[in-house]
Order: sequence, then C-alpha cells, then structure tokens
Amino acid sequence: MEKADTLIIGARVIDGTGAPAAERDVAVRDGRIAAIVAPGGLADWTADNVFDAQGKVLAPGFIDVHTHDDTHVIRSPQMMPKITQGVTTVIVGNCGISASPVTLKGDPPDPMNLLGDAAAFKYPTFAAYVDAVNAARPSVNVGALIGHTALRNNHMDRLDRAASDDEVAGMRAQLEEALDNGALGLSSGLAYGSAFNAPPEEVQALAEPLAKAGALYTTHMRTEFDAILDAMEEAYRVGRHARVPVVISHLKCAGPSNWGRSVEVLKSIETTREGQPIGCDCYPYNRSSSTLDLKQVTGDIDITITWSTPHPEMAGKLIREVADEWSVTQQEAAKRLQPAGAVYHNMSEDDVRRILSHPATMVGSDGLPNDPLPHPRLWGAFPRVLGHYARDEGVLTLEEAVRKMTSLTARRFSLSERGEVKVGFHADLVVFDPERVRDAATFAQPQQAADGIDAVWVNGVLTYREQAVTGARAGRFVARGSASKLDAQGAF
Ligand code: ZN
Ligand code: CU
Repeated sequence: MEKADTLIIGARVIDGTGAPAAERDVAVRDGRIAAIVAPGGLADWTADNVFDAQGKVLAPGFIDVHTHDDTHVIRSPQMMPKITQGVTTVIVGNCGISASPVTLKGDPPDPMNLLGDAAAFKYPTFAAYVDAVNAARPSVNVGALIGHTALRNNHMDRLDRAASDDEVAGMRAQLEEALDNGALGLSSGLAYGSAFNAPPEEVQALAEPLAKAGALYTTHMRTEFDAILDAMEEAYRVGRHARVPVVISHLKCAGPSNWGRSVEVLKSIETTREGQPIGCDCYPYNRSSSTLDLKQVTGDIDITITWSTPHPEMAGKLIREVADEWSVTQQEAAKRLQPAGAVYHNMSEDDVRRILSHPATMVGSDGLPNDPLPHPRLWGAFPRVLGHYARDEGVLTLEEAVRKMTSLTARRFSLSERGEVKVGFHADLVVFDPERVRDAATFAQPQQAADGIDAVWVNGVLTYREQAVTGARAGRFVARGSASKLDAQGAF
C-alpha cells in the first residue's frame, strides 16, 4: 500500500501544457503531485482525503501574472478575490510600482498609492518584504517584480525628470539586492507621470543586471494609444540592450482612434519574437482601470469614478454626470475629484478577443484590491476566460485558456515546478465544473466570488471548497527558479 495525503479521483485533467484533457486519478503527498494514473490506477493507494472529481476538470492552480496584491497578501492573507477564482500564485510588483524596496519621504506618488497609503510601505529592502510575506502566511504563493517607479522614488527628489547616473547606480544596487533574494525581474510604468520623463536609456541601464540573474523585464508601456507601436519598439529595445525577455503588460489598443489595431500590434510581437523573447498579458474585459488620469479625460469615452478622496460620494458615477451635476467641464470635474480612481471604457471587444486568444498572451487580472469599487477583473478574470470566453463564446479552447493561466506563465517567470499537473511538481491544483464555471463580479457588484470553482489546493493543502475557505493558508514566497532549466522547455 502507498500512502498519500489526498487522492483526486475521476477528473478530466487539463495539465496546463495545452495538451488535450484526459481522465486521470491523481495522488498528492507532502505538497507535491505524487502520481498521475489512468482511472482506477490508484487501487493500491490510501489517503486521509479522497476527492471525487467525476465530471469536473482538474487543472494546475492559476497563476495571476499581473497583480497589485503587494500589500494585500500581507494585510488580507486569506486573499479571497484570488483563491475564489482558483488562483494559487500571484505575481506582484507590476506597472513600475512595488511595495519594496521602498523608503518614502512623504505620501506615495501616483500610482504607488494604488498599493495603499504611506503606512503600507514599510519594507526598505526586498528581504524585509519576503520576511513579511512568509510571516503573513497568505493563502496563495507570491512571486515579486521590482518597480522602476518605486526605485526612482527612493533616489530622486522629484519624478518629473530623468535620473542621473548616480541615481541609476543607487536604483541598480537596490534591484540587485532584490534579485539576490529571489525577485523575478523589473517592471516599469512609463505611461504614468512618475516615470514618463524617464528616458529609454534610464530603463536600459537599470535593466542591465537582469540577464545575469536570469530575470525578465515587464512594462506598462509609454503609451497604449495611437503611438503604441513606438512604445512596443521601446520595450523591445530594453530587451535587446539588457539581453532579457520582455513581457508587455495588459496589452490593449486604448482609445477609439486606436480600435482595430490589435492586428498590427500582434503582428509586431510575432515578427519581433523571431529574434528575441517577447510575451504579453491581458485581462478579459474591454474596460481598463487605474488612478484617474487627466490626460485621458478627453470626452470621447465614458469614464466611471471608482473612488475619490475629496468626493467619495461620486464613486460609481460617470465623470460626465459629475460634471453636469457641478456645471463644470469634465476636465474641471476630474481635477476636483483627485486623487481618484477610474474605469475607462476604452477598448474594442474585437481587440480584446484577438489579444486574449493569441498564443503569446498570458492571463492576468490587474485587479486593484484596495479600490472600494474595484474593476470586476479583481474577482472575475480567470473564471471569465474559462466560462464566458472559452465555453460560451468559443474564442479559445479550454486547454489553451488553462495554458495561458499556468505553464506559459510559470515558464516565462521561472517559477520552478509549478504551472503543470506533473509528477514531482508542487500540488497547486484547482477542480472546476466546466459547465458551471463563470464570473459573477460585475461593474455594479464587483466583489463577488465566481461560480463553479469546486476546490483549490495550494502546496497540497485544501484551501477552498464549496464556495468557502477552509481556513488553511499554505502559500509562500516563491523565488525565481533556475532559468537555464526552464529555457529548455521553450518558455517564450
Ligand atoms: Zn499597468
Ligand atoms: Cu497593473
């Protein structure tokens, strides 16, 4: 007799690689996948827990490649918005903003304020952040990028200029400390005022230590509007200069004048990928969300206010309704609302589908957990891809949808032995009902758990079952794995 901790019996296993689903029984022991066999093949095994997964899909736990959960994993370690979706690993530190290494001089600059107020930033080194994550014992695993804007803010008196050579050297030293302690790479948020005046050379110089560490560069590009191809070229150049893979964050064609251009945007990725590793992520919605940006208040799209420090009562209203109520222009209303958060109705559905279904694209939520009226992607991104886009709309197969949430991400970010249902891999697993899985979060009611996520294990520990958490929190900080081993798998 062999002894396991858990047997999962009768599932249709989608292993995360894109291979077709197959009926398998799976044994889990000591946090790892111990056996994967044809139905009935575990007759010699006993276990304390036997999970009947007849008619359900067993997949690798989802990896949320694009999050702003940096402080949330510590403050709210149950991580309800993510565990309820079947997410077992989050990657924090995107868009140039990270909780560490950070030493603030005052309030966090926009958009670092998305991660919390000044009190939330208490990790002067990356090592201190890693310790805090492990002490908080979140329910999900946590991998982390280091934000370019966060580093700038540590070393510069003002952010509306280029960093000097000395300042870049200081930023690099902090990045190197983080890479030594397992950070996955560097992120930038060049569209934001806090990094917009950083020239390409500044980012290129900062990115130089990444290659030796086997880390990567991710970017919220200089623009997602009409000049998007130039911004992509800028991102590619960082990858070539520093000899590192590039991930374009939340790829989209923003603004009505840009709609339909996903064809040429994806073509650019395909062509460039022949010479250097390039990937991207996206969330499955045609509206974006961030802090309220005056440059985007042009009157040609609807913008919903999600929070406003001086006017919290305006949350949920369109900016033009606020402007009408106050009898002012939309620009003036936006100024009065700041600091504020917003949902921008700025994408075309065709572009979203084209980008989501492209083989280079990973799924990431870009959820904003500190927003009182968050974009529904925070609670709904993964089940929305599985239910709405894969099952109901047929935009991609279920196997391909799962691949974009698991192995593709694990390989690109060097998360060793995660992202596949494979013997020896960590037992991050989700069982979902392919008929019932669907996102419940809406723009009006965004904080709602998905339907059809039946069970979630993190490092072999049952964490979510029958729409409720078990109370176990078995996540941990995940350091960058060895890239050389992963490269052989054809990561990009
Ligand atoms: Zn972003
Ligand atoms: Cu983001």
